Amino acid sequence: MQTDFSPDWHPVAPSAGLHAGANIVAGFAAGQELALWRAADGRAQAWENRCPHRSVRFTLGTVAGDQLACAYHGWQYAAGSGQCTRIPAHPAMQVPQSVCAKVFDVSEAAGMLWVRLAASGTADVPRDDAVPSGWSFGRTLSVRADLAQVRDALAARGFATQGSHAALRGRLGGVDTVALLLDARPQLAFLHLWTEATPGSAAMATLHRAARELRAAVEALQPPQAAP
Ligand code: FES
Repeated sequence: MQTDFSPDWHPVAPSAGLHAGANIVAGFAAGQELALWRAADGRAQAWENRCPHRSVRFTLGTVAGDQLACAYHGWQYAAGSGQCTRIPAHPAMQVPQSVCAKVFDVSEAAGMLWVRLAASGTADVPRDDAVPSGWSFGRTLSVRADLAQVRDALAARGFATQGSHAALRGRLGGVDTVALLLDARPQLAFLHLWTEATPGSAAMATLHRAARELRAAVEALQPPQAAP
């Protein structure tokens, strides 16, 4: 298995959760809040979750074809470039090119949407073999801990990297599993769990139970929150 693609790529969400021309999904990567969506022609998008006009979250908006419309004043932005194309209050106005959503690079592989935050970086992209062919998506597990602590917990359970910074493989509850790791923000990590188990099977239920136990064990290590 070759998965030593650039560590700049973050696995933010399962691809299947983004429906063409339909929904907007909230995401995080390394502290960056994201609006994830898919244009009607299928192109996946990852934008800073903030309208350039008055900073309203794009995730409150709607997708119309290849445009994302902000919920507040209805300004519309084009897939790909993020360029504002229409201001409903001034329909005849030529929108300045400076009015543009912040757009990040995306790649789809191994059933996931990957985002690269760095404006420049290496060209290598995630590959489908980050997850074995034919495996199923189990769940995304959120853990209130830094990613390093989650890595340590997985390593203690026998998980090992597959050549990529983001992919660890091992057995969770005895079920062969790949965990794609996402540093969402400080004290919050996501594990996208892919498995040999089939949806609805007893093995999948066992995996889910083991994942919850893993989360409880890691979160139990966190220092108590100071009283407000
Ligand atoms: S805040 Fe988005 S259009 Fe005004």
